[in-house]
Amino acid sequence: MRVEHAELSGSELRDLRAVSARVATEAAELVRTRRVTGVGDVDTKSSETDVVTETDRAAERLVRDRLAELRPGEPVLGEEEGGGDDSAGAGLCWVVDPIDGTVNFLYGFPWYAVSVAAQVDGVSVAGAVVEPPSGRVWTAARGLGAELDGRPLRASAATRLETALVATGFGYQAARRQRQAAAVAELLFRVRDIRRAGAASLDLCAVAAGWLDGYVEQGLHRWDWAAGALIAEEAGAVVRLPGTDPEGIGAHTLMAAAPGVATELRTALVECGFGGL
Ligand code: IPD
Ligand code: CA
Ligand code: CA
Repeated sequence: MRVEHAELSGSELRDLRAVSARVATEAAELVRTRRVTGVGDVDTKSSETDVVTETDRAAERLVRDRLAELRPGEPVLGEEEGGGDDSAGAGLCWVVDPIDGTVNFLYGFPWYAVSVAAQVDGVSVAGAVVEPPSGRVWTAARGLGAELDGRPLRASAATRLETALVATGFGYQAARRQRQAAAVAELLFRVRDIRRAGAASLDLCAVAAGWLDGYVEQGLHRWDWAAGALIAEEAGAVVRLPGTDPEGIGAHTLMAAAPGVATELRTALVECGFGGL
């Protein structure tokens, strides 16, 4: 049966959120264990620096198996196995990044997560981001707020871009990175500082928690932001998803910011050339 996003009741949203958190937590436990026992074979994807480990694949498999049990028949789009409704327009779809921040996972840098979201017609309605190293669980459901380990989240009260802490990220291809770095170099002197921690989902959660005042990245995939962008939005951040501001920050750029600096950040991104990336 086709599900419309506006039709979901509070209890359906809570259920989707609970399923997201449950399967992401189970996959995070697998990822945590594998980090200790061995990450498995390491392959490369779009470039020599774009890695995928056996653990990424095992975590996605676990999420798919558990979703098939808990939510039988619903499509899943995952980074490693594809599938789902790539066109973002066919009812409910689960969107999975089995390890967001795989490079960090490989090195043991503790900023990586399992991200699971439920989207309806491409709109995130519930999701969870779970960190294997710490066990932290970030969740949200549309209209019901965002939480970290059950405590409500609120974006920062920042009001000035000059003193805003802003995170970013870079793609895996050298030519694209060069263009992204040039735009970020223009941004660097307009803000307090820049962070590049290496996991888009968690960078969005950090905006939700007020650990960052803003985040911008060009070239993300749907699985990178499906859960984190909802968590940021539900915590009161202003979120511009890829494709929503093509004439301004660019067709493939995502921006999230505390409400008091969002307009200023968007203007700065336009001036810094994000629109042309
Ligand atoms: C990557 C991370 C990184 C971002 C890249 C993503 P992956 O995801 O989120 O922070 O800068 O654009 O591809 O490859 O570790 O799942
Ligand atoms: Ca990712
Ligand atoms: Ca990944």
